[in-house]
Amino acid sequence: MATLRIHRFVEGRKWVQDYTVEVTKGMTVLEALISIKEHQDPTLSFTCSCRSSICGACAVRVNGNAELSCEKLVADLIARYQTETLTVEPLGNFRVIRDLIVDWDPKYARIKKVKPVVHPKDEFSAEDGCRQSPADFDKYKKYAGCILCGSCVSECNKNTLNQKDFLDPFAFVKAERITADSRDKDPKEHLKAVLDAGLWRCFNCQECTAKCPKHLDPAGAIEKLKAATFKYHLDDNVGARHAKAIYDDIQESGTLDESKLNIKSEGFFMAGLRAPMALRLMHVGKMNPLESHPVNPEVKTIAAIVKAAEKEEE
Ligand code: SF4
Ligand code: SF4
Ligand code: FES
Repeated sequence: MATLRIHRFVEGRKWVQDYTVEVTKGMTVLEALISIKEHQDPTLSFTCSCRSSICGACAVRVNGNAELSCEKLVADLIARYQTETLTVEPLGNFRVIRDLIVDWDPKYARIKKVKPVVHPKDEFSAEDGCRQSPADFDKYKKYAGCILCGSCVSECNKNTLNQKDFLDPFAFVKAERITADSRDKDPKEHLKAVLDAGLWRCFNCQECTAKCPKHLDPAGAIEKLKAATFKYHLDDNVGARHAKAIYDDIQESGTLDESKLNIKSEGFFMAGLRAPMALRLMHVGKMNPLESHPVNPEVKTIAAIVKAAEKEEE
């Protein structure tokens, strides 16, 4: 037996309700929810469609982690969490409509900000189509596999803090899918859009990558987009300058020069506004502007590792 502790929300009223189900062999969380709806409580509301991990409609949070409910076996989750009580909630960072149903309309509106449509190069025509080599297709095919389940945004720490200046991780996946598509005539157009959408505000916490049921690595897509902004000379912004300053420090000394990092990233005036933080860093011994910046004795090895990583990335 298992207890599904479900977060209910109906017409403004919130409560938590326990339902006990008999766990049959191979029973998924979705099957448990359907069993509850059919045999115990027809008012329980949730969404699903394909029941085959394809449509993305059934994602919920189980014990604080986003999951496709049609994919996860109840028995596996009981074994993972070492408890027969599983807490089921709607996805995080969404507006809840009812029970486990969340509102996708604002998300669809936000995804449009990255202009997620290929604009074919002029050499293509309606008659001949848009031909592409298998090698070029391989450059973005992974990201074409996004099923818009919302698991990544549910666990995104940046979205939890502030959604106004940062898009949902799947929007960046879509942007990378288009930017890396050799048929598109203007990758810069999409890159400018993702810069406006908060590309450099990602915390790089990797939660989106850890939770994506299709293993698409949204955090990796964000890193690829950042790299592309350098390639297309869209690097006159604080985020790019910050990344460049870190790169230069690591190459030159093998360590970070905290006392100059902000000046290089934001300029003297903005860095001056951060004086209180600089004082705190000095107080805990993390930074001393009077000392010359130390050079790691292994700096040549570190630079070689950076070069090898760059070559691998190419
Ligand atoms: S890596 Fe960035 S996009 Fe992914 S969950 Fe963390 S903050 Fe969000
Ligand atoms: S990137 Fe992954 S987790 Fe995010 S919506 Fe697409 S399939 Fe779901
Ligand atoms: S019901 Fe379609 S992915 Fe689960």
